[in-house]
Amino acid sequence: MSYFSEETSVQAVLDRLSDDVDSRFREIVTSFIKHLHGFVKDVEPTMAEWGQAIKYLTAMGQICDDKRQEWVLFSDTTGVSMLVDAINHRRPDGATENTVLGPFHVGGAPERALGDSICLDGKGAPCVVSGRVTDEDGNPIAGAKLDVWQTNDDGFYDVQQPGEQPDMNMRGLFTADEDGSYNYVTVKPLPYSIPTDGPVGRFLDGMGRHAMRPAHIHYIVSAPGYETLVTHIFVTGDPYIESDAVFGVKESLIVDFEEVDGGHRARFDVKLKKLD
Ligand code: BEZ
Ligand code: FE
Repeated sequence: MSYFSEETSVQAVLDRLSDDVDSRFREIVTSFIKHLHGFVKDVEPTMAEWGQAIKYLTAMGQICDDKRQEWVLFSDTTGVSMLVDAINHRRPDGATENTVLGPFHVGGAPERALGDSICLDGKGAPCVVSGRVTDEDGNPIAGAKLDVWQTNDDGFYDVQQPGEQPDMNMRGLFTADEDGSYNYVTVKPLPYSIPTDGPVGRFLDGMGRHAMRPAHIHYIVSAPGYETLVTHIFVTGDPYIESDAVFGVKESLIVDFEEVDGGHRARFDVKLKKLD
């Protein structure tokens, strides 16, 4: 047993861990206390600075509701979301890479037929996206489900403009055909800003960072017997491709959006990893 002092701080807290706590919980709490105290010892905050930190964390919680998740934004903009994702999806060479889910996914997107448009507001020039879903060896995965979503031609998700955009605008659930092929119509995505009107906006400002995400289309691709893939496709040449506010870009996910008569065309093939 040690009384609390600057020198014994970590041990003083860890001594209070009961012998019968779950072993994984013990591992996590032990590391958390070590790193938290290490951070405080490194930074040596003034009382005022620590008070500010508590206020900041409080504001982060207070702005959250069922539509706004500031903690996820914080995790995203500090690179933690991508780190957790990387640790959990060490994919074999060849399987399509993961990236962040983001806060704008909505369950229950409408099932659409191959070739349908997800653009319900009529804004923007048509863009045809097509590709094939296969396993790592290139065998087609017939019936794979592709849940896709993106911002509209004004750069907003439908859930950010309720009443202004049609419900489920720019969202669709597609089923790959016998050959694993899929295609749908959308508009070429645009770069957009993550929400900056909360504590995360102040954090980015303080670091002199912008809040932009390069243009992208979100995908969740699933099929029985395969690991579900959460990813995006990004647009070649996007001005924010090297400075995504949430660190989501991977080179293998950058796709050419070719100009064609009156619109665009892009191709994105997906390789799913077999479940062990
Ligand atoms: C998104 O791409 O929808 C997103 C991802 C992370 C933070 C904010 C938005
Ligand atoms: Fe997005």
